Amino acid sequence: MTLANRQFLLDEIPQGKLAPEHFRLAHGEAPSPAEGEVLLRTRYISLDAANRAWMQGATYRSALSAGQVMAGGALAEVVESRAPGLAPGDLVFADTGWQDYAALPARHLTRLPKAEPMTHLMSVYGIAGLTAYFGLLECGRPNPGETVVVSAAAGSVGSIVGQIARIKGCRTVGIAGGPAKCALLTTRLGFDAAVDYKAGDTRRALRSACPDGIDVYFDNVGGDIFEACLFNMKNHGRIACCGAVSQYDGAPPAHGPRGVPGLIVTRRLTLRGFVVMDFDDQREKALADLHGWVESGKLKVHEDIIDGFENLPAALVGLLAGENVGKRMVKVA
Ligand SMILES: NC(=O)c1ccc[n+]([C@@H]2O[C@H](COP(=O)([O-])OP(=O)(O)OC[C@H]3O[C@@H](n4cnc5c(N)ncnc54)[C@H](OP(=O)(O)O)[C@@H]3O)[C@@H](O)[C@H]2O)c1
Repeated sequence: MTLANRQFLLDEIPQGKLAPEHFRLAHGEAPSPAEGEVLLRTRYISLDAANRAWMQGATYRSALSAGQVMAGGALAEVVESRAPGLAPGDLVFADTGWQDYAALPARHLTRLPKAEPMTHLMSVYGIAGLTAYFGLLECGRPNPGETVVVSAAAGSVGSIVGQIARIKGCRTVGIAGGPAKCALLTTRLGFDAAVDYKAGDTRRALRSACPDGIDVYFDNVGGDIFEACLFNMKNHGRIACCGAVSQYDGAPPAHGPRGVPGLIVTRRLTLRGFVVMDFDDQREKALADLHGWVESGKLKVHEDIIDGFENLPAALVGLLAGENVGKRMVKVA
């Protein structure tokens, strides 16, 4: 029996802002798995700011090119296995791309434990949760009583960073776009204070929100917000460089942030970039902590689930425009 396979192709590499027109829907048949491979059916496809960065050039993965199936991670179910260790019904997280079915080598895949709901495997127990955990605790190294600031604070990674910082006894300040989102940060997401970067002078607003300065800045966005935080850092502060979403969707910025390297020297700052895979050897401990916090109610999981494969392009465009609160994903099946 042949299985119908919908695919979204990246039809054109965007030069300016990403739009749904940069994608094209194609219809084909599911591939047959070769020896050592499994056939996967995607259940939920992850929408990530990095999806847009991959269109700009090589990052921690090679650059995307026009005409290929749009790349992306997914929570997927094994429907046929030609490899030991994986059986039909098993769930995996895999780089399936935006399609219903993908055949992939089993050696790159790990069976996921059961979780209720299964979407938590893509949010708090997936890349978002682990990125927040390692970036904050290993790179930011916050101490109780310190002030932690995070940008894209209502997003998938940022909303977890703020909560872990609170769990560690820190004062938390979130930066997000617009008054409604900022109100959400201090009500639903548990931040102590919020700064609206779209309201104007972010540097001054941060000075009011952090009168004693910033000990740890978790940077998801780069650009002007990075600069505003840099000028508010305390001596010996730490900056965890996680991503630069302000620079993914459009032309590259004309100049870099002011204060580099001068403020890094005079304030004895430490900046550390990281990619979540760097900490794979500590994954089990991180997942145990995240589980414990979720089970005890200390960590609330925020997910933004959109129904329907056909909505993938608009869902990514919307994420880049700040529509999402928490981890955005598209339910495919
Ligand atoms: N290093 C790693 O291993 C790793 C792993 C995963 C993710 N990341 C990084 O983590 C960051 C967050 O990614 P995510 O996938 O979780 O996305 P997300 O935070 O759920 O969504 C992106 C958010 O960025 C904000 N944003 C968009 N344009 C902006 C701009 N010009 N200035 C400031 N904020 C802007 C929007 O919120 P507003 O409404 O507030 O603008 C939007 O909701 C990204 O930089 C990503 O590359 C890094």
